[in-house]
Amino acid sequence: MDVINAIRTRKSVRSYSDKPLPKGIMQELIEAARLAPSCKNLQGYRYIPLTDKSAIYSLRDAYKQRFVCTAPGLVIACFYPPTYSKSSWEKSRDKGVDKEVCRSIAMRDLAISTAFLVLRATELGLGTCYIGDQKNEIIRKRLGIQLPMEVLATITVGYPKDSSSKKRKKLSIEEITHLDSV
Ligand SMILES: Cc1cc2nc3c(=O)[nH]c(=O)nc-3n(C[C@H](O)[C@H](O)[C@H](O)COP(=O)(O)O)c2cc1C
Repeated sequence: MDVINAIRTRKSVRSYSDKPLPKGIMQELIEAARLAPSCKNLQGYRYIPLTDKSAIYSLRDAYKQRFVCTAPGLVIACFYPPTYSKSSWEKSRDKGVDKEVCRSIAMRDLAISTAFLVLRATELGLGTCYIGDQKNEIIRKRLGIQLPMEVLATITVGYPKDSSSKKRKKLSIEEITHLDSV
């Protein structure tokens, strides 16, 4: 599958079959995420893959939507601003760059990296859903995630139960493109 096909095929999947995930699949996904661009190549994204049923179930109170913990795999997407706090952050701070700015850069880097992960999953025939509606504090405590690493989102991973889930309507190119009016 080429990239454009993965982009066209991807859709959020919220119902998974019982088919187990192949061994090593999470590494495959994180390998794609690892290669994403990041601000100054600081790579502040971090991932916690979960495939153990009881570990996944232990997070059930963190999500409003029940389907999340029925997925055979979860990837907890985290970011790590201290990468910025080493030499680069210190240099930025001396130039007056706020730590919140560095945090938001790390979150943006993570967002791009998760897109790579999700497209690789699509290429491998897997369904995913990006979950932002979650209680990060519960996830942090249950998984022993230590600040300053922070949780941002979860990506569910599994084989789609059926192919009937609808593709969401997208805006047209014209609707999202603002032509230079000068
Ligand atoms: C930042 C973000 C947060 C999201 N949070 C949730 C969520 O908590 N639960 C959910 O079911 N889907 C969530 N989604 C998936 C969106 O609902 C979905 O991407 C959107 O409806 C478009 O559908 P598509 O992914 O099939 O193109 C989220 C997506 C993004 C990018």
